Amino acid sequence: MAISFPWFYGSKPLLLFHVSILLISGLSLGTGTGTGTVDYGSDEVFADVLRDEAVDRIHQLSKISDGDGYLERTFLSPASIRAANLILSWMQDAGLRTWVDPMGNVHGRTESVNPTAEALLIGSHLDTVIDAGMYDGTLGIICAISALKVLKNTGKLDELVRPVEVIAFSDEEGVRFQTTFLGSAAIAGILPESALKISDKNGVTVEEVLKENSFEATEESLTQVKYDPKSVWGYIELHIEQGPLLESLGYPLGVVKGIAGQTRLKVIVRGSQGHAGTVPMFMRQDPMAASAELIILLESLCKHPENFLTYDEKCGGFPKESLTGLVCTVGEISSWPSASNVIPGQVNFTIDLRAIDDMAREAIMLEFSNRAQQICNKRMVNCTIDRKHNAEAVKCDPLLSEQLKYAARSALGKMSTEAANYQHEIPVLMSGAGHDSMAMSHLTKIGMLFIRCRGGVSHSPDEFVLDDDVGAAGLALLKFLQNNMMISVT
Ligand code: GLV
Ligand code: MN
Ligand code: MN
Repeated sequence: MAISFPWFYGSKPLLLFHVSILLISGLSLGTGTGTGTVDYGSDEVFADVLRDEAVDRIHQLSKISDGDGYLERTFLSPASIRAANLILSWMQDAGLRTWVDPMGNVHGRTESVNPTAEALLIGSHLDTVIDAGMYDGTLGIICAISALKVLKNTGKLDELVRPVEVIAFSDEEGVRFQTTFLGSAAIAGILPESALKISDKNGVTVEEVLKENSFEATEESLTQVKYDPKSVWGYIELHIEQGPLLESLGYPLGVVKGIAGQTRLKVIVRGSQGHAGTVPMFMRQDPMAASAELIILLESLCKHPENFLTYDEKCGGFPKESLTGLVCTVGEISSWPSASNVIPGQVNFTIDLRAIDDMAREAIMLEFSNRAQQICNKRMVNCTIDRKHNAEAVKCDPLLSEQLKYAARSALGKMSTEAANYQHEIPVLMSGAGHDSMAMSHLTKIGMLFIRCRGGVSHSPDEFVLDDDVGAAGLALLKFLQNNMMISVT
């Protein structure tokens, strides 16, 4: 089998996969809204906008769905277009000039007194997973719009020293096409033209989806989306943590120091289709049973890499600690023809593999591939593994992170009832989840702020953020703008 490499977000050469193989192969958040504990300053309009209106908008967006009874918005789906239009209207309400670019990203910009200065970009994504929570992506977009709206309402928008632009990216989750960051990668200039030809499981391509929505979908139109790095000062993103650390530490906000690298693979296992009642067990070439074995192999490998990789002082050329945070997931599986009385002819499944260390991630993939090949050979099935997405781990900019930390500390200082708890340093975390920041790091320096969520739950309708924490996030962003982007510090 051949492992294919579509396109990468990294510059470092990938290891080893050129070999042709036949594998192919603390504080509980409770359930309340948590309102009433924040002192936003003398002007109560801040709380109205940063907390109450922001929360209301998050709820409004959560109702815009392609799914019936659950939240789903994939790249340029009908619900995504409706959500984009609503976001556009909120950007206009915040005094921003708006447009939608040829990849469906929604932009709102204020030019400032120095329209030619490098711009600060602030963003997150408007697409969702299937049966999503309402804060993932949305929270970052809404907080950015709210912070700028406060500047507008207080007559400060014109005092920004550089243009500030909010971007709601059209695709971060990669649910439909398995390639994440279609929107932000295009802006960062790392989306190859070949991305237009990627197809979803029904054979519909990115190009077709763009055209259906009246976008040009040509090489030239993709080029138009790309930003000149010289025109950009930096990128910041606010996002729910999607993990339990902030909650356990009792902090509403944390600063991100880096994001784990990730790979998505599509595995196709082909066997011999047959009658469930007549083919003796010993004569079967069953791709379903083979897939089950491959999936268990993957789980064991990521749970106990030490049982598979040889450690001396070092493990495969990288320190053992670099396997910390290694996670592997099979989230999607399908079989053909998918009938209870038919031995399947083919099984397809996805693998999502993440690690903080890129070398470790590559080593795990190689180990999986080699062992998977052996399983497929033993079971006489044909396996192919196709790499659909690759994003290297990224580091956040230290200075930007310090500025965000300072802003977060100022914002939390306003949280009267809990202020005493926040005397220590704002927590600094790694992100296991992927973010548009990963793509944007190829364009400019990045910084991220995390907002705690209940139980660390995300990619689930149970995702929950306290209203006050939404307000604290908006206030931290406002503080960041006031401290770093204004002519006069207020
Ligand atoms: C995005 O949410 C990802 O990390 O998959
Ligand atoms: Mn997500
Ligand atoms: Mn997200």
